[in-house]
Parts: sequence; C-alpha cells; structure tokens
Amino acid sequence: MALICLKILLICALQATCVVDEQRSFMVKEPYAGDSDFLRKQGFMSTSFSSAKPFSIEQVVGVRYWTPSLLSFTTTRPLELNYLPGQYTRIGLTVGHRVVWRAFSFVSAPNERLLEFVAALVPDGLFTSRLGAIQPNDEIHIEHENYGFMTTDRFVDGDDLWMLATGTGIGPFVSMLRDDAVWKQFRHIVLVHGVRGPAELIYRDELQGMQPRSGKERAQILLACCISRHNGMAANDCLPGRITSTWDNGTLELATGLTITPTASRVMLCGNPQMIEEMRARMHARGLVPCRRMTAGQFLTENYW
Ligand SMILES: Cc1cc2nc3c(=O)[nH]c(=O)nc-3n(C[C@H](O)[C@H](O)[C@H](O)COP(=O)(O)OP(=O)(O)OC[C@H]3O[C@@H](n4cnc5c(N)ncnc54)[C@H](O)[C@@H]3O)c2cc1C
Ligand SMILES: NC(=O)c1ccc[n+]([C@@H]2O[C@H](COP(=O)([O-])OP(=O)(O)OC[C@H]3O[C@@H](n4cnc5c(N)ncnc54)[C@H](OP(=O)(O)O)[C@@H]3O)[C@@H](O)[C@H]2O)c1
Repeated sequence: MALICLKILLICALQATCVVDEQRSFMVKEPYAGDSDFLRKQGFMSTSFSSAKPFSIEQVVGVRYWTPSLLSFTTTRPLELNYLPGQYTRIGLTVGHRVVWRAFSFVSAPNERLLEFVAALVPDGLFTSRLGAIQPNDEIHIEHENYGFMTTDRFVDGDDLWMLATGTGIGPFVSMLRDDAVWKQFRHIVLVHGVRGPAELIYRDELQGMQPRSGKERAQILLACCISRHNGMAANDCLPGRITSTWDNGTLELATGLTITPTASRVMLCGNPQMIEEMRARMHARGLVPCRRMTAGQFLTENYW
C-alpha cells in the first residue's frame, strides 16, 4: 500500500514538473521537445489568446488577395522578434474598443526584413472580418514571442520530408522552403497542398521556381496538390480528392514516386484539424510515431483550430 502511495505521489510530482516546464517553454523561447497537440490537449494553447505579452504596433506594408477570401500580407518587423520556419506569433487588430489576438504562422523566412502571413477570411470570424479590411500603412499589433514546435530541427534523421497542408496550412512550409536549412537536411522534400479548388493553390509559382541554391543543398523538391471539389476532373496537374483519399487510394505516393516508411520519411501536417486527426491514424498504421519530449519521432502536427 505504502509503495502504491509513493508511486502515486511520484507520478503527481513528475506531472507537476512537466506542467511547469511546458508552461515555461511556451512562455520563453526555449526549444521544446513535446508536440503542440499535446500542449493543446493540456490546455496551454488556445486559438484565442488574451494574455498580454510584449508586442509592438507595426505597419502593414502590402496586401495581396489570391481569392476574395484568401489573402497574404506583409508587415514591418519588430526588432525583438526572432523565429524558426514553422513557428507562429500572435497578431492583434483593434475590433471595437479592444485588441483581438490570433495565432498566425510566419510565411516569411527568418532572415527576411518584412514579416509575411497568409489568412483565410472566415465567414463572421471575429478577427478575419476586420483583417479583410486591412490596407497598406494600417497599424497592426505583432507580438514579440515565437511559438510552436513544428520545426525541422525536431527530426534527427530521415531522407524524405513530407509537408502535408490544407488551405492556409501551406504558410509555414513556404517559410521553411525560403530558408536554407531544410534543403540541406533532407534528400527529398514533398510538399502536398490540399485545397477546394485551383484558385487556392497559393504560392504555386514561387514554389515551382524553387531550386536548390548551392551544392550543399541536396534536396530535390516534389510538388503535389489535391483538389477536393473537382467535378471528377483533375486540374493543374493535381490529384482529385482530399489528401486523405489520395493517401488511401495510393495516388499520392504513386505521383511522387516515394513510399512513406518509418525509416525514410518524416512528415509534417498543418491546417485543418480533422485532416490532421485522420492522417494521424494513417501515420500510426504505417508505423510512424509523433515526436515527443524524450523520443525522436517521425511526424509533427500543427492544428489551426
Ligand atoms: C498555431 C496556429 C497557427 C495559425 N496560423 C494561421 C495562419 O497562418 N493563417 C490563418 O488563416 N489562420 C491561422 N490560424 C487560425 C487563426 O488563428 C484564426 O483562428 C483564424 O484567423 C480565424 O479567426 P477569426 O476570429 O476570424 O474566426 P473565429 O471567429 O475565431 O472562428 C474560428 C473558426 O474559423 C475556421 N478557421 C480558423 N482558421 C482557419 C483557417 N486558417 N482556414 C480555414 N478555416 C479556418 C474554423 O472553422 C474555426 O473553428 C492559426 C491558428 C493556430 C492555433
Ligand atoms: N475556400 C473557399 O472557396 C470557401 C468558400 C466559402 C467559405 N469558405 C470558408 O473559408 C474558410 C477556409 O476554408 P478553406 O477551404 O481554406 O479550408 P478547409 O475548409 O480546411 O479546406 C481546405 C481543404 O482541406 C480539405 N479537408 C477538409 N477536411 C478534411 C479532412 N478531414 N481530411 C482531409 N482533407 C480535408 C478540404 O476538402 P473539402 O472541400 O472536401 O472540405 C479542402 O480541400 C472556412 O472557414 C470556410 O468555411 C471558403
């Protein structure tokens, strides 16, 4: 009995330590070894942030509409803000009498002078209803913190990096590809973008123009896209269907010429949480496990809501 009590006490103490560590690593810029889904489940992350952290009021520099409900924009950059590709910060806009904050992944690479973000305008969305009206020279609040653990340094090995994105989830992958590190780390990079229709295949021209930039950058890039609302026709050389169905029917691997295995493949999933949940089951079925605090894994995720 005494032994059982001791065990329970020990487990409680360990859990408390983990909680403190995770909160600390979320609040300061320490590399964190858990995955963001785990943090979210523990209640440390939310899509609506209210706590005050250091921020500055920056300026919108440029706005580009890809479709009426999909835009990217650039802003001036706080000197204090540093980040890794794959991370995000919080952006604030004044709505009525208060500032509303939301998480946005960086599209810009860490060495760019301006910050770039991409956003879907959500019907009746509190933040994006205001975001849809931004123009160059408008003021925008940018927090100085970097957040998130979907970064390539979490993978200790692997030959092929699979980046699976739905909708705006492509943003962090563009940031990674604008940076040098990922090109040196892997042999193949497969970027798969799942969208409703071809108009949402954002950053396509830039991605198609990407080439390894020096002899040291050995990765070969393969671009794939999945169009879900396709009327039976594949468009723009994309696969018809959702990412999940092209995975299930084998067309995704066939199109890339690569097979997903625990030894060769490292996978990042970003965007729609249902897609991530469904793909998580498929990862496990292939023997891939998520990166955790003390164990190297084969996949990482970032849910947008
Ligand atoms: C870690 C993280 C990173 C994020 N990065 C981005 C980003 O780079 N770009 C971006 O557009 N959003 C991103 N988001 C979502 C963003 O923070 C807001 O939730 C989104 O802008 C909607 O805010 P809102 O107040 O307008 O809508 P709300 O009133 O808060 O409505 C939320 C609902 O909008 C829908 N929704 C939210 N985000 C998206 C999206 N990206 N695409 C499609 N539907 C969505 C979902 O149905 C969700 O339940 C991110 C979220 C997280 C947690
Ligand atoms: N993009 C538009 O034309 C449009 C129009 C009106 C409103 N909106 C609103 O704008 C916001 C952004 O929409 P979005 O299209 O960028 O994002 P989204 O709804 O996440 O869809 C992006 C892609 O992910 C796919 N997807 C959804 N659930 C999936 C799952 N479980 N597994 C695999 N793939 C999945 C979608 O397929 P499905 O097409 O099969 O869902 C689509 O191809 C949403 O709030 C939406 O309501 C968008």
